[in-house]
Amino acid sequence: MRVAIIGQGYVGLTIAVGAAGAGHTVVGFDVNEGLVSQLNSGISHIEGISDSHLKEYISRGSYEASSDPTVLDGSDLIVIAVPTPLDEARNPDLSFVRAAAELIHNNVKSPALIINESTSYPGTLRKEIAARITSAEHLYASSPERVDPGNRQWGTKNTPRLIGGLSPEAVAKAKEFYSSFCDTIIEVSSPEVAEAAKIFENTFRQVNIALVNEFAQIADALGISGREVLDAAATKPYGFMEFNPGPGVGGHCIPVDPSYLAHVANEVGVPATFIKRANEVNLAMPAYVVKRVVAGAGGSVGGKKIVVVGVSYKSNVADTRETPAAAVIDLLREQGAIVTWNDDLVGNWRGESSSPISGADIAVLVTKHDGVDIAAIKACGYVFDCTGSIAGVDGI
Ligand SMILES: NC(=O)c1ccc[n+]([C@@H]2O[C@H](COP(=O)([O-])OP(=O)(O)OC[C@H]3O[C@@H](n4cnc5c(N)ncnc54)[C@H](O)[C@@H]3O)[C@@H](O)[C@H]2O)c1
Repeated sequence: MRVAIIGQGYVGLTIAVGAAGAGHTVVGFDVNEGLVSQLNSGISHIEGISDSHLKEYISRGSYEASSDPTVLDGSDLIVIAVPTPLDEARNPDLSFVRAAAELIHNNVKSPALIINESTSYPGTLRKEIAARITSAEHLYASSPERVDPGNRQWGTKNTPRLIGGLSPEAVAKAKEFYSSFCDTIIEVSSPEVAEAAKIFENTFRQVNIALVNEFAQIADALGISGREVLDAAATKPYGFMEFNPGPGVGGHCIPVDPSYLAHVANEVGVPATFIKRANEVNLAMPAYVVKRVVAGAGGSVGGKKIVVVGVSYKSNVADTRETPAAAVIDLLREQGAIVTWNDDLVGNWRGESSSPISGADIAVLVTKHDGVDIAAIKACGYVFDCTGSIAGVDGI
C-alpha cells in the first residue's frame, strides 16, 4: 500500500518504519522541516529506531519524509499520529488533530482509509476528524497506539492492536494494513470503544500509581518500608498487581490521557473523581520528595550542592516531557539549594547541560538509566533514591 503518516514523532516514525519494513511505500509527513531533513538524511530521533534501518528504507525507496502536504493525495491509507496534549487549564488540546484533519480535507481528493492513532477521548474520529473532511468518500478507523518507548519486550509487532471503524470496509482495510506488521489484531464494535480502551488503560496506570504513591507516604509515616510491603503483597498469586511509587508521573501519556477521559465524563455529567484525585496525588509527589530531602539533609538544603540524577521521565529514554524532575529541581532551588543535574541521555535541557555527579553534597536519584554511576551517587554525603534501586539509602 501507499501509506502517508501525518506526524513523525515517537508514534508516527515507529509506524512508518514498521510499515516500510512490511513492504509498504511510506511517506512521513511532518510540519517540522528540520526533522524532515534530518530523517531524509537517515538520522533517527527515536531510541529503538536505528539510523541504519532508516537509511536502508530510504535507499530502497520505501520511506521518505516530507513537509509538502500535496504528497498526501493518492495514498491508500493515511495515519494521523500528532500530539494530543493538555492546554494550560489541563483540558484536552485537539488543535493538532484538527489541523491534521484540515490538512487531509484541503489536500486529499482521492478516497483513502484514514486512521487515527493519536490518543484522544471517544468520539474524536467521528466528530473531530471524519466530520471535518468532505474532500472525498474516505473510510475511517481508529487504532490507538499503545507503544511503550524503551520497552524491549513489547513493541509494535507483538503488542495486540485494537481497531474500530466507522464501517465494515474501514475495519477490513485497517486489519489488512496492520496485520502486515502486527501479530494480533483485535476488532472492537466502534471507534469509540477503541478510543476509550486506550485512555482507560492509561487511567488504570495513573490511578494505581497514585495509590502506591499515597501508600508510600503512609508507610513512611508508620515507620515501615512501603516497597517491602508492596513486594510482600505481590507474592499473592492472584488479585494483586504491583505498581511502584516514585517522584510523580511523566511523559506524553500517563499524566495527560486520563484528563481526556475526565473531560468527556464531565460533558456527560459523571464526575471522574478517581482521575482528579490521582492527578492531585501524582502532581504533589515532587513536593513530597523535596520535603523528605530537606528532612534527610538535617532540616535545610540552603547553600547545599545537590545533583538530581536522571531527568527524563523514565529509564533509558531521553524524553523529558512532563518529567517530575523539573518540579523537583525547581522546588529544591526555591529552598536555596545549588542544583545541577546529571543525565547523559538527555544532554541538554531547559537551557542547561548535564553535569557530573561527583562533588555534590546530596544526590537525588529521580530516574535510573542503565549504566548510571551508582558508586558516584553513593559517594555524595546524603542520597535520596526515588527509584527503590539503591540498597541502604533513604528514599521512597
Ligand atoms: N510517545 C508515546 O509513548 C505514545 C504512546 C502511545 C500513544 N501516543 C500518542 O500518539 C500521539 C503522538 O505522540 P508522539 O509521542 O508521537 O508525539 P511527538 O511529539 O513525538 O510527535 C508528533 C509529531 O507530529 C508533528 N506534528 C504536529 N502537528 C502536525 C501537523 N498538523 N501535521 C503534521 N505533523 C504534525 C510534530 O512536529 C511532531 O514531530 C499522541 O496522541 C500521543 O498521546 C504516544
